[in-house]
Amino acid sequence: MPVVYVYAQEHKENIVLSHSSTCAKSLSLLSCSKSKIREKLSGGNISTVTKKEEIFPILPAFFERLEQILPDEIFFPIVEHFFHSAHLTVRINTLKIEREQALRHLTEHNISFNHVSWFPDALSLSRITPKDFERTDLVKKGFFYRQGLSSMLPVVLLDPQPGEAILDMCAAPGSKTTQIAALMHNKGSIVAIEKVRNRFYKLKSVLDLLGVQNVSCKIIDARRYHPQEERFDKILLDAPCSSEGRFNLSNKKTYSYWSIRKIKEMARKQKGLILNATRLLKPGGVIVYATCTFAPEENEAVIDWLLRRTSDVKVMPITLKGVPRYEALKAWQGKKFNPQVDNCLRVFPTTYMEGFFIAKIAKANPKGTCL
Ligand SMILES: C[S@@+](CC[C@H](N)C(=O)[O-])C[C@H]1O[C@@H](n2cnc3c(N)ncnc32)[C@H](O)[C@@H]1O
Repeated sequence: MPVVYVYAQEHKENIVLSHSSTCAKSLSLLSCSKSKIREKLSGGNISTVTKKEEIFPILPAFFERLEQILPDEIFFPIVEHFFHSAHLTVRINTLKIEREQALRHLTEHNISFNHVSWFPDALSLSRITPKDFERTDLVKKGFFYRQGLSSMLPVVLLDPQPGEAILDMCAAPGSKTTQIAALMHNKGSIVAIEKVRNRFYKLKSVLDLLGVQNVSCKIIDARRYHPQEERFDKILLDAPCSSEGRFNLSNKKTYSYWSIRKIKEMARKQKGLILNATRLLKPGGVIVYATCTFAPEENEAVIDWLLRRTSDVKVMPITLKGVPRYEALKAWQGKKFNPQVDNCLRVFPTTYMEGFFIAKIAKANPKGTCL
């Protein structure tokens, strides 16, 4: 399978890498041959998994599948990231503080930062641990919100504007709801849905802390949310998933629940959610569908299923310079996907970014054309 390497050069510009870092090292791997990858890994300061025997016994069925999902040459560079915690990245909460002032606060706290080229509110921090950062008044006052860069991407692609009507279908704990509200300058309306009670209350408290004022929260199953149809300009479906992109092999809790059954259960749920999203979306509107898993059943197969079920949607190309990516799957377990599925984005995991899958779906307007 061919792999699109959009990244090495672009991604180095993505985060301003003033210091030599593991990120630069892992990114430089992406354009190398397999033997070079091994050589570089063994000489570097990131861990050196280069033998399948080292990892397969941990979760055999998972790694056997992963081997089929990923092209050979990126298998080990991706597996590396199952051993590392992500770099500390945060979002400036522009509802509470201006960007320039936020940066001054960081300098006063002796925290160094790097910018991210594709989103001005995102920063990667160094000289402070995530735990210590969470304890600062900067977080307690809601000036900054700790959030992975991959988690910021779906909202950047949704591109919410002041005055629009937005639905966030699976919202807790609210990382993306608050990011949407900030980009809307609290103008327009957001409906944020969460099914699980304790997560719903967490969502409410995050919205409060970050000064969000344009959200109405609902505690229901988003598959059963049926207000007037075609009501939203844009919909974010940050779907519940098997979260394979979050596995940390040194912490069993992050992966012990994994099973093929779980993947199937998630895929069923995701189809129900995305189908309802297409009903609730205005003609000409956009849905961003995201998961943090590698499983094709929860990614390409969900989008392929939607394209077979509905005639008025189209998968839009995603071009965001500076985001490390590899190709979406064209087929899985003998079943070919609709060629439009090629437009989906698989985010290549790095020290800074989790492995995410993102699809941008547009609904035809009354003249039959998409955005
Ligand atoms: C990936 S998390 C969302 C993370 C959130 N968007 C954020 O960025 O902070 C998925 C969420 O969907 C919720 N959920 C699961 N099934 C749901 C359903 N049927 N309807 C609404 N929410 C659901 C889960 O409890 C979980 O909080």
